[in-house]
Amino acid sequence: MEALAASNHGHATAYGDDPWTAAAERDFAELFDHDVVTLMVWNGTGANVLALGSALSPAGAVVCTDCAHINVDETGAPERLLGSKLMDLPAHAGKLTPDQVRSLRHNLGVVHHVQPSVLSITQSTEWGTLYSPSEIAALCDVAHEMGMRVHLDGARIANATAALGGTRETLRSFTRDAGVDIVSFGGTKNGMMYGEAVVFLDRDLARSAGYTRKQFTQLPSKVRYISAQFSALLSNDLWIDNARHANDMARRLHDTVRGHDAFDVGSEPEVNSLFPAFSPAVATDHIEALREWSFFYDWDPPQRQVRWMTAWDTTPDDISAFRVGIDHFLP
Ligand SMILES: Cc1ncc(COP(=O)(O)O)c(C=O)c1O
Repeated sequence: MEALAASNHGHATAYGDDPWTAAAERDFAELFDHDVVTLMVWNGTGANVLALGSALSPAGAVVCTDCAHINVDETGAPERLLGSKLMDLPAHAGKLTPDQVRSLRHNLGVVHHVQPSVLSITQSTEWGTLYSPSEIAALCDVAHEMGMRVHLDGARIANATAALGGTRETLRSFTRDAGVDIVSFGGTKNGMMYGEAVVFLDRDLARSAGYTRKQFTQLPSKVRYISAQFSALLSNDLWIDNARHANDMARRLHDTVRGHDAFDVGSEPEVNSLFPAFSPAVATDHIEALREWSFFYDWDPPQRQVRWMTAWDTTPDDISAFRVGIDHFLP
C-alpha cells in the first residue's frame, strides 16, 4: 500500500510507458538474471491466457493436468479466447510426468489431430505439491523435443520458491535453468492489492504479446500501480518472506488440527494448503456452519474433501481461533 501511495504522485504516461514500469521490468530481469520481457496484467486468468496465446501454434493445443486452474477454474477462458483445445491428462499429486507428455507424440504431424503445442504446468500445484527442478527440466526436455513450448502457472510461484530453498537461485533453478519459456508470476496471492506479471524467458514469444494483452482486455491504462507493487514485493525479497510465512502458517495449522476426530487432515503441507477430508460421522450442517463462520472451498465433494489455505497475512492467532471454531462447530 505504501508503494501504491508513493506511485500516486504527478502525471505519468499511460499504458506502461512510465518510470515505475521500467523499474519493475528491470527488477524482473534481475530476479531471473535473464533478458526477459515482462508484461503486467490484471489477474491470473488473464496472465495464463496471454501466456498460452503467445506460445500456441496454429491448430495448437495446450497440454495440462485435469486439475489445472486453466482447465477447471477459469470458466473456459482459454478455450473461449484462444479457440484452442486443452488436452487434460490425469494428474498424479497435481503433477504430470514426461511419459504422459511423450504419449501424445502420435498426434504430431497428423492433420486430423490438434497439435500438442504448449505444455502448461503449475508450481506449486493445485494440490499443494511441488515439482523439483529436475522434474521440470525433464518435462521441458520432452516438450521441447516435441516442438512444444512450456508455460508455468506461477500464481503461487513464491510459495514454491520458499519451500524449495528460498532464494532467487531456487526460482531460477526451476524456471530459467529448467527450460521454462513463459511464467505467469503471481502477485495478488502474495500480498499485492491486485496484479500479476507474464514473464517471457524466451523473448521471441513476446513478439505479439503487447497486442494480445490489449485484445484480451488485460492492458491497464495505469500500469504504474501494478509495477510499483511488484517492485516493492521484489525488493529485499519480500515476495519470498511473505510466502515463507504463508507456508509456515500452513504447517502450524496442520500441527494445530492434526488428530482431530472430525477429519483426516492429510500429511504435512509442502506449501500453504491443507486438504482435509471430513469423516462420514460429521453432519453436513456442521461443516456448513463452520464454512459460514470461516469460508473455505470444496475440493473433492464425493470424498467430503475441502481446501484450507493460509496466506502471507495469516497470524498464529488466526490459527488458534480457527481451532476454537472447529471445536465449536464440529462437536
Ligand atoms: C493455480 C492458479 N492459477 C491462476 C490463478 C489466478 O486466478 P485469478 O484469475 O482469480 O487471478 C489461481 C487463483 O486461484 C490459481 O490458483
